[in-house]
Amino acid sequence: MPFQSFKRSFTLSRTYTHLFPFPRNLLVIRMSSTNLTSLPPSSPSTKATDSVDPTPTSSSAPTKVKLTSHNQYSTPRLLRDQLHPDPLIQFNAWFTLALNGDESTHTPKVHEPEAMALSTVTLTSTSTSTQSKVSIPIPSTRIVLLKATDSQGFLFYTNYTSRKSQELLENPYASLCFYWRETSRQVRVVGRVEKVDRSDSEAYFNSRPVGSRLGAWASPQSTVVQDGEVQQRVEDVKKRFIPDTNLQQGGGQVQGEIEIECPEFWGGWRVIPFEVEFWSGQPSRLHDRFRYTRSDEASEWIIDRLAP
Ligand SMILES: Cc1cc2nc3c(=O)[nH]c(=O)nc-3n(C[C@H](O)[C@H](O)[C@H](O)COP(=O)(O)O)c2cc1C
Repeated sequence: MPFQSFKRSFTLSRTYTHLFPFPRNLLVIRMSSTNLTSLPPSSPSTKATDSVDPTPTSSSAPTKVKLTSHNQYSTPRLLRDQLHPDPLIQFNAWFTLALNGDESTHTPKVHEPEAMALSTVTLTSTSTSTQSKVSIPIPSTRIVLLKATDSQGFLFYTNYTSRKSQELLENPYASLCFYWRETSRQVRVVGRVEKVDRSDSEAYFNSRPVGSRLGAWASPQSTVVQDGEVQQRVEDVKKRFIPDTNLQQGGGQVQGEIEIECPEFWGGWRVIPFEVEFWSGQPSRLHDRFRYTRSDEASEWIIDRLAP
């Protein structure tokens, strides 16, 4: 049982500073180092799809799927006196454990714990049967990567003209959901959003691999494009930013540091929570759930246990 001794170590001390031995105000996710000089192939290529796709073809795909399995979750109990009064610090504690695992308690690392579902809502004007127009809130969800937390909230980066950003500009509220299968944990967040300071977006953009920076310029995210159009745009962007002398023909490798400015249409969003829920899977569906809420950003957090 991977979590057998986890509970003991987690409840040893009630002094929060001992329980949460990481920076209080800022958690920045450092990924394994990526080769900053690697670029996408220099000509439109099908390389990524060269390997055989194991997905059943349309003729052999099942017409229905049905699941009858019943997983039993058996993580340690989550108890009120283990919770930090600040949900962002509590999140940092769970996230750090998910990212690094803990050999001493046989806690596994979670694969890509920074992947989170982001839901936004847009008001769509629709005709009713009486021909009057009503605004119907329509949600949409996609996965994005958490890149940092700070004392205010959760940060991710994207294209500001994308569907999600359009929806956030129209209605500046979002919800996030993390599912960490390896540790049977879920974290849900609801909050208001604001754009990250330009200087912070630029700093993060400049830390990205060259290929990702070029890709940000080349992709009119969420718009309809023709086959091969984005690859062609990448080639155009390469010509704009990378002098010939820096590009070794053939390998698509760049020599030296390349300066690629952060596009105006690209940057970060911060989700400033007013609700955060921590869920820990338990046997027989009797999961532990604690929800933090606050009425406004200056108020104290209230913590409630919720029925599973
Ligand atoms: C694992 C994973 C991580 C992703 N991370 C991001 C991200 O950090 N930022 C982003 O804009 N899109 C990311 N995407 C792509 C989004 O899911 C989505 O396709 C894209 O942002 C366009 O969404 P939109 O049309 O709703 O704006 C990621 C997708 C996956 C599967």
